[in-house]
Amino acid sequence: MLESNNLRLFSGNANPALAQKIAEELGRPLGKCTSRKFSDGEICVKIEESVRGLDVFVVQPTCHPVNDNLIELLILIDAFRRASARRITVVLPYYGYARQDKKVKPREPVTARLVANLISNAGASRVLCVDLHAGQIQGFFDIPVDHLYAGPLIADEMKKMNLQTNNTVVVSPDVGGVPRARALAENLGTPIAIIAKRRPEANKVEIMEIIGDVSGKVCIMVDDLIDTGGSIVQGAQALVDRGAKEVLACCTHGVLSGDAIKRVEESVLSALLITDTIPLPTEKCNSKIKVISVAPLLADAIRRIHDDSSISELFQDYAEH
Ligand code: R5P
Repeated sequence: MLESNNLRLFSGNANPALAQKIAEELGRPLGKCTSRKFSDGEICVKIEESVRGLDVFVVQPTCHPVNDNLIELLILIDAFRRASARRITVVLPYYGYARQDKKVKPREPVTARLVANLISNAGASRVLCVDLHAGQIQGFFDIPVDHLYAGPLIADEMKKMNLQTNNTVVVSPDVGGVPRARALAENLGTPIAIIAKRRPEANKVEIMEIIGDVSGKVCIMVDDLIDTGGSIVQGAQALVDRGAKEVLACCTHGVLSGDAIKRVEESVLSALLITDTIPLPTEKCNSKIKVISVAPLLADAIRRIHDDSSISELFQDYAEH
């Protein structure tokens, strides 16, 4: 339970269930605010209690519907700023547009940077996020960013499965994900393997090669997110084709767009572990998917930010580099 009365936690419409769990972990109710749409689609937000001089945290992953959730977040920040909140921390469990973080081809935007500018310019004082697609997105902000990892939670869940570490390998579904896979492998005491993939076009995946020994092994694929499911499902199939005994996958953010759920269901994957950074609607639940909550982690981080204490202490034995 927090002693201080200066902290207020609010939620937008993106993931109220997660915000409620965080509030319960903190032992205080969610702040009162409403957000509705005018008939033309414009969003209208109202903060229903005074936040003058308070340390405000607003929970809003910019997941589907990403544009609505992003704009709602910006409007909420603006409302808190105009209502004289002392500090506004944006709790972004999932950062939409994070994958557009560099110019790969001429005349492409860097939308991850644009989103960072929008959040900062709206009046955010700091950002708290979980498993950014690329760590360097922190540098797109000129305000403090605290970056949390779901890796230790995932590792704890894996340990409960009593996997034989001498017969298990953690697999990165692409070269960019190697630091994440290595951190999990170090935590579990297993070797790693790497899938070399390429994207001939957006949302399409081509598996090129697998580096490492996967034959006869239980493979744990780990990724920051699963969107269409292409990387994980095709990667899992490639692992089985090279003799893997079983393939499980863990992805922090279950974007699960289009027919991803069906692809997972029909795939060789025996299980998919995701977190609740993005809500999983009931119609998307299936027997292969297990959801673990990041609420205790986020509540702990919020408490530490409010108290000006260390966040890195939360990850002393875990490093993605
Ligand atoms: C890519 O670099 C990301 O880390 C994910 O691997 C990717 O975005 C997943 O997308 P999909 O599920 O559509 O393959």
